[in-house]
Amino acid sequence: MISDIKVAPSILAADFSRLGEEIIAVEKAGADMIHLDVMDGHFVPNITFGPVVIKSIRKVTNLPFDSHLMIENPEKYIGDVADAGVDILTVQMETCVHLQKVLSQIHECGMKAGVAMNPHTPTEFLEYVMEDLELILVLTVNPGFGGQKLVKSVVPKIRKVREMIDRSGRDIYLEVDGGINSKTCKTVIEAGANLLVAGSAIFGTKNYKSAIEDLRK
Ligand code: DX5
Ligand code: ZN
Repeated sequence: MISDIKVAPSILAADFSRLGEEIIAVEKAGADMIHLDVMDGHFVPNITFGPVVIKSIRKVTNLPFDSHLMIENPEKYIGDVADAGVDILTVQMETCVHLQKVLSQIHECGMKAGVAMNPHTPTEFLEYVMEDLELILVLTVNPGFGGQKLVKSVVPKIRKVREMIDRSGRDIYLEVDGGINSKTCKTVIEAGANLLVAGSAIFGTKNYKSAIEDLRK
Protein backbone atom coordinates (compact mmCIF):
# COMPACT_ATOMS: atom_id res chain seq x y z
CA MET A 1 0.00 0.00 0.00
CA ILE A 2 1.51 3.30 -1.12
CA SER A 3 0.35 6.19 0.98
CA ASP A 4 3.14 8.72 0.83
CA ILE A 5 3.73 10.02 -2.70
CA LYS A 6 6.70 12.34 -3.03
CA VAL A 7 7.25 14.82 -5.85
CA ALA A 8 10.63 15.89 -7.20
CA PRO A 9 10.47 18.75 -9.73
CA SER A 10 13.12 18.40 -12.44
CA ILE A 11 14.82 21.74 -13.00
CA LEU A 12 15.48 20.76 -16.62
CA ALA A 13 12.17 22.48 -17.43
CA ALA A 14 12.86 25.53 -15.22
CA ASP A 15 13.83 28.99 -16.45
CA PHE A 16 17.63 28.74 -16.10
CA SER A 17 18.03 32.51 -16.16
CA ARG A 18 16.20 32.53 -12.79
CA LEU A 19 17.22 29.13 -11.46
CA GLY A 20 17.49 30.09 -7.78
CA GLU A 21 14.05 31.72 -7.79
CA GLU A 22 12.52 28.74 -9.56
CA ILE A 23 13.86 26.35 -6.91
CA ILE A 24 12.58 28.54 -4.09
CA ALA A 25 9.19 28.67 -5.83
CA VAL A 26 8.83 24.88 -6.06
CA GLU A 27 10.00 24.52 -2.46
CA LYS A 28 7.21 26.90 -1.38
CA ALA A 29 4.79 25.00 -3.62
CA GLY A 30 5.39 21.77 -1.66
CA ALA A 31 8.18 19.93 -3.52
CA ASP A 32 9.77 17.10 -1.50
CA MET A 33 13.14 17.16 -3.26
CA ILE A 34 14.81 18.72 -6.28
CA HIS A 35 15.64 16.48 -9.25
CA LEU A 36 18.90 17.39 -11.02
CA ASP A 37 19.47 15.87 -14.47
CA VAL A 38 23.17 15.76 -15.32
CA MET A 39 23.77 14.92 -19.00
CA ASP A 40 27.06 14.55 -20.86
CA GLY A 41 26.17 14.47 -24.58
CA HIS A 42 27.50 10.88 -24.80
CA PHE A 43 25.20 8.62 -22.83
CA VAL A 44 22.31 10.86 -23.87
CA PRO A 45 22.14 13.26 -26.81
CA ASN A 46 21.98 16.39 -24.66
CA ILE A 47 24.24 18.36 -22.31
CA THR A 48 22.99 20.06 -19.15
CA PHE A 49 25.01 21.07 -16.07
CA GLY A 50 27.36 19.59 -13.50
CA PRO A 51 28.75 19.99 -9.98
CA VAL A 52 29.54 23.73 -10.34
CA VAL A 53 25.90 24.61 -10.92
CA ILE A 54 24.70 22.16 -8.27
CA LYS A 55 27.03 23.71 -5.68
CA SER A 56 25.73 27.16 -6.49
CA ILE A 57 22.02 26.26 -6.16
CA ARG A 58 22.74 24.34 -2.94
CA LYS A 59 22.70 27.74 -1.22
CA VAL A 60 19.06 28.52 -2.00
CA THR A 61 17.25 25.52 -0.48
CA ASN A 62 17.46 22.87 2.21
CA LEU A 63 15.41 20.37 0.20
CA PRO A 64 17.24 17.13 -0.59
CA PHE A 65 19.00 17.09 -3.96
CA ASP A 66 18.16 13.99 -6.00
CA SER A 67 20.70 13.90 -8.81
CA HIS A 68 20.27 11.67 -11.87
CA LEU A 69 23.54 11.14 -13.73
CA MET A 70 22.99 10.38 -17.40
CA ILE A 71 26.72 10.26 -18.08
CA GLU A 72 29.33 7.72 -19.03
CA ASN A 73 31.93 6.80 -16.38
CA PRO A 74 29.83 8.18 -13.53
CA GLU A 75 32.35 6.83 -10.97
CA LYS A 76 34.72 9.66 -11.93
CA TYR A 77 32.32 12.32 -10.63
CA ILE A 78 30.93 10.81 -7.42
CA GLY A 79 33.26 12.84 -5.16
CA ASP A 80 32.59 16.13 -6.96
CA VAL A 81 28.84 15.63 -6.87
CA ALA A 82 28.96 14.79 -3.15
CA ASP A 83 31.03 17.92 -2.45
CA ALA A 84 28.47 19.97 -4.39
CA GLY A 85 25.80 18.91 -1.88
CA VAL A 86 23.84 16.07 -3.50
CA ASP A 87 21.91 13.83 -1.08
CA ILE A 88 20.75 10.99 -3.33
CA LEU A 89 22.88 10.03 -6.33
CA THR A 90 21.45 7.86 -9.09
CA VAL A 91 23.55 6.30 -11.84
CA GLN A 92 22.34 4.61 -15.00
CA MET A 93 22.65 0.84 -14.80
CA GLU A 94 23.80 0.77 -18.47
CA THR A 95 26.86 2.89 -17.65
CA CYS A 96 28.21 0.72 -14.82
CA VAL A 97 30.17 -2.45 -15.48
CA HIS A 98 30.91 -2.67 -11.74
CA LEU A 99 27.58 -1.48 -10.44
CA GLN A 100 27.87 -2.78 -6.87
CA LYS A 101 31.24 -1.06 -6.52
CA VAL A 102 29.85 2.26 -7.79
CA LEU A 103 26.95 2.07 -5.33
CA SER A 104 29.42 1.42 -2.48
CA GLN A 105 31.46 4.45 -3.58
CA ILE A 106 28.32 6.61 -3.45
CA HIS A 107 27.68 5.43 0.13
CA GLU A 108 31.30 6.02 1.09
CA CYS A 109 30.85 9.63 -0.04
CA GLY A 110 27.91 10.01 2.36
CA MET A 111 25.03 9.92 -0.15
CA LYS A 112 22.10 7.60 -0.69
CA ALA A 113 22.50 5.47 -3.81
CA GLY A 114 20.12 4.92 -6.70
CA VAL A 115 20.05 2.99 -9.97
CA ALA A 116 18.20 4.20 -13.07
CA MET A 117 17.12 1.99 -15.95
CA ASN A 118 16.27 2.91 -19.52
CA PRO A 119 12.88 1.71 -20.79
CA HIS A 120 14.32 -1.40 -22.46
CA THR A 121 16.71 -2.41 -19.67
CA PRO A 122 15.54 -5.55 -17.85
CA THR A 123 15.08 -5.67 -14.08
CA GLU A 124 17.08 -8.89 -13.50
CA PHE A 125 20.36 -7.17 -12.59
CA LEU A 126 18.59 -5.35 -9.75
CA GLU A 127 18.16 -8.59 -7.83
CA TYR A 128 21.88 -8.58 -7.01
CA VAL A 129 22.15 -4.99 -5.75
CA MET A 130 18.96 -4.65 -3.70
CA GLU A 131 21.01 -4.47 -0.50
CA ASP A 132 23.16 -1.70 -1.95
CA LEU A 133 20.60 0.93 -2.88
CA GLU A 134 17.93 3.25 -1.48
CA LEU A 135 16.30 4.23 -4.80
CA ILE A 136 15.35 2.63 -8.10
CA LEU A 137 14.50 4.96 -10.97
CA VAL A 138 12.40 3.48 -13.75
CA LEU A 139 12.72 5.76 -16.76
CA THR A 140 9.35 6.19 -18.41
CA VAL A 141 10.89 7.88 -21.49
CA ASN A 142 14.17 7.50 -23.37
CA PRO A 143 16.33 9.91 -21.40
CA GLY A 144 17.84 13.11 -22.76
CA PHE A 145 15.01 15.60 -22.98
CA GLY A 146 12.07 16.90 -21.03
CA GLY A 147 8.54 17.13 -22.37
CA GLN A 148 8.34 13.63 -23.92
CA LYS A 149 5.41 11.22 -23.84
CA LEU A 150 5.42 8.36 -21.33
CA VAL A 151 6.33 5.00 -22.89
CA LYS A 152 3.36 2.89 -21.82
CA SER A 153 5.13 -0.45 -22.16
CA VAL A 154 7.22 0.49 -19.10
CA VAL A 155 4.24 0.29 -16.74
CA PRO A 156 4.51 -3.51 -16.18
CA LYS A 157 8.18 -2.95 -15.28
CA ILE A 158 7.16 -0.52 -12.53
CA ARG A 159 4.92 -3.27 -11.13
CA LYS A 160 7.74 -5.78 -11.32
CA VAL A 161 10.14 -3.46 -9.47
CA ARG A 162 7.46 -2.73 -6.84
CA GLU A 163 7.21 -6.48 -6.18
CA MET A 164 10.99 -6.78 -5.91
CA ILE A 165 11.15 -3.91 -3.41
CA ASP A 166 8.32 -5.31 -1.30
CA ARG A 167 9.94 -8.74 -1.32
CA SER A 168 13.25 -7.23 -0.19
CA GLY A 169 11.59 -5.68 2.86
CA ARG A 170 13.83 -2.66 2.43
CA ASP A 171 12.88 1.00 2.41
CA ILE A 172 13.63 1.81 -1.24
CA TYR A 173 12.10 4.65 -3.26
CA LEU A 174 10.52 3.66 -6.57
CA GLU A 175 11.05 6.76 -8.68
CA VAL A 176 9.53 7.30 -12.13
CA ASP A 177 10.87 9.91 -14.51
CA GLY A 178 9.68 11.19 -17.87
CA GLY A 179 6.24 12.12 -19.16
CA ILE A 180 4.73 12.24 -15.67
CA ASN A 181 1.77 14.62 -15.50
CA SER A 182 -1.67 14.90 -13.89
CA LYS A 183 -3.02 12.30 -16.33
CA THR A 184 -0.24 9.68 -16.28
CA CYS A 185 0.49 9.89 -12.55
CA LYS A 186 -2.48 7.70 -11.65
CA THR A 187 -1.15 4.81 -13.75
CA VAL A 188 2.37 4.93 -12.34
CA ILE A 189 1.21 5.32 -8.74
CA GLU A 190 -1.14 2.35 -9.15
CA ALA A 191 1.79 0.36 -10.54
CA GLY A 192 3.75 1.12 -7.35
CA ALA A 193 5.77 4.31 -7.85
CA ASN A 194 6.13 6.51 -4.78
CA LEU A 195 8.50 9.23 -6.01
CA LEU A 196 7.41 11.19 -9.07
CA VAL A 197 9.80 13.32 -11.11
CA ALA A 198 8.10 16.01 -13.17
CA GLY A 199 9.65 18.78 -15.24
CA SER A 200 7.25 20.27 -17.75
CA ALA A 201 4.14 19.27 -15.77
CA ILE A 202 5.33 21.63 -13.01
CA PHE A 203 7.59 24.31 -14.52
CA GLY A 204 5.44 24.48 -17.66
CA THR A 205 2.45 25.70 -15.63
CA LYS A 206 1.67 29.00 -13.92
CA ASN A 207 0.67 27.54 -10.56
CA TYR A 208 3.39 25.22 -9.22
CA LYS A 209 1.44 24.46 -6.05
CA SER A 210 -1.63 23.10 -7.80
CA ALA A 211 0.58 21.27 -10.32
CA ILE A 212 2.36 19.46 -7.45
CA GLU A 213 -0.91 18.76 -5.65
CA ASP A 214 -2.46 17.34 -8.82
CA LEU A 215 0.41 14.85 -9.12
CA ARG A 216 0.10 13.68 -5.54
CA LYS A 217 -3.69 13.13 -5.70
C1 DX5 B 1 14.69 12.82 -18.93
C2 DX5 B 1 15.05 13.38 -17.58
C3 DX5 B 1 13.86 13.84 -16.83
C4 DX5 B 1 13.16 15.03 -17.43
C5 DX5 B 1 11.69 14.83 -17.23
O1 DX5 B 1 15.84 12.52 -19.60
O2 DX5 B 1 15.69 12.38 -16.81
O3 DX5 B 1 14.14 14.07 -15.45
O4 DX5 B 1 13.53 16.26 -16.86
O5 DX5 B 1 10.99 15.81 -17.93
P1 DX5 B 1 9.41 15.76 -18.14
O6 DX5 B 1 8.78 15.66 -16.77
O7 DX5 B 1 9.12 17.06 -18.81
O8 DX5 B 1 9.11 14.58 -18.97
ZN1 ZN C 1 15.84 12.56 -14.50
